[in-house]
Amino acid sequence: MLRLGRSCGKRFGEMNTLNLPVRPRRLRKSAAVRALVVETILTPAHLVQPLFIVEGSEPEAVSSLPGIFRLPLCRLAAYCAQLESLGIGGVAVFPKTDSALKTADGREALNPSALVLRAIGEIKSSVPALPIFSDIALDPYTTHGHDGLLDAAGGDVDNDATVAVLSEMAVLHARAGADFVAPSDMMDGRVKAIRAALDADGLSSTGIMAYSAKYASAYYGPFRDAVGSTRAPDAPPISKATYQLNVANRRESLRELRLDEAEGADILMVKPAGPCLDIIRDARENTTLPVAAYQVSGEYAQLLAAEKLGWLDLRATRDESLAAIRRAGADIILTYFAEAWARDR
Ligand code: PBG
Repeated sequence: MLRLGRSCGKRFGEMNTLNLPVRPRRLRKSAAVRALVVETILTPAHLVQPLFIVEGSEPEAVSSLPGIFRLPLCRLAAYCAQLESLGIGGVAVFPKTDSALKTADGREALNPSALVLRAIGEIKSSVPALPIFSDIALDPYTTHGHDGLLDAAGGDVDNDATVAVLSEMAVLHARAGADFVAPSDMMDGRVKAIRAALDADGLSSTGIMAYSAKYASAYYGPFRDAVGSTRAPDAPPISKATYQLNVANRRESLRELRLDEAEGADILMVKPAGPCLDIIRDARENTTLPVAAYQVSGEYAQLLAAEKLGWLDLRATRDESLAAIRRAGADIILTYFAEAWARDR
């Protein structure tokens, strides 16, 4: 029935009591309107799934990363095919080296049949279109767990000697089929040296995703568990503070980002992601290169732990964490949530 007289008077609740013409809530009034004005879009193509690789034939659970498994070579083809069918943007491979193969000089890193090289080959031959990012650092191979070689006195990581090994390692990874080598060591000058080594070997189409602003973060704990680079409890704790950035510093990260760009990096990465949203934004505003951010193992583990305690909703906090990283300016996000997020959406 037509209700007459309604236009003549306003009910109290409809009155513009504040005399407010500007009302931002109009753009949030329904899901459809919110979708029209959304500013940050995430798709599986933006996500890279980190993969832990192990010898043997059975997947191994990683206790501090629930839902994440170390995969044997025989499972890689099927798993990567699933990731590809979900539209995931790529994989980042990390080997768990048998402790018997670890040495102070990490020489297993240059073994032409090292586990990670076989894994890269397996993925490239079975799912050739899926981009592979391979980590270039010595921590999976050294008994001391550092990302490089120690100097003669054993008191410091020897920058230039480490860069020489990393350059050889990058060539092996690129020959095996890595699309991007990803130096995560934070040695000075490594991007330039790796670029030169790749080019000298005819590998000019292999890219470099540089861990440019990589902080000495406490959020890498579960990762070290996954790749077995944690030191024994009786050994002195690993301090990576002489090469990774101090979490208190912002300007210094810009210097690192600029250097890696000047040295020839194709993609600049910030790590960790959630604790460094300001740094991701700085990177985005100071380069025209793609910016990647690594939502690291501890960022994943803390959400899983809180959900286990019944304290947080995993899906909602996961989605919010990824939206925040992308809103900060990341083009590419490396995250242990990649597969699950792509499945759930
Ligand atoms: C090693 C490397 C680390 C991570 C990626 N590459 C650990 C470290 O620097 O100690 C951490 C990733 C994560 O925590 O998920 N070069």
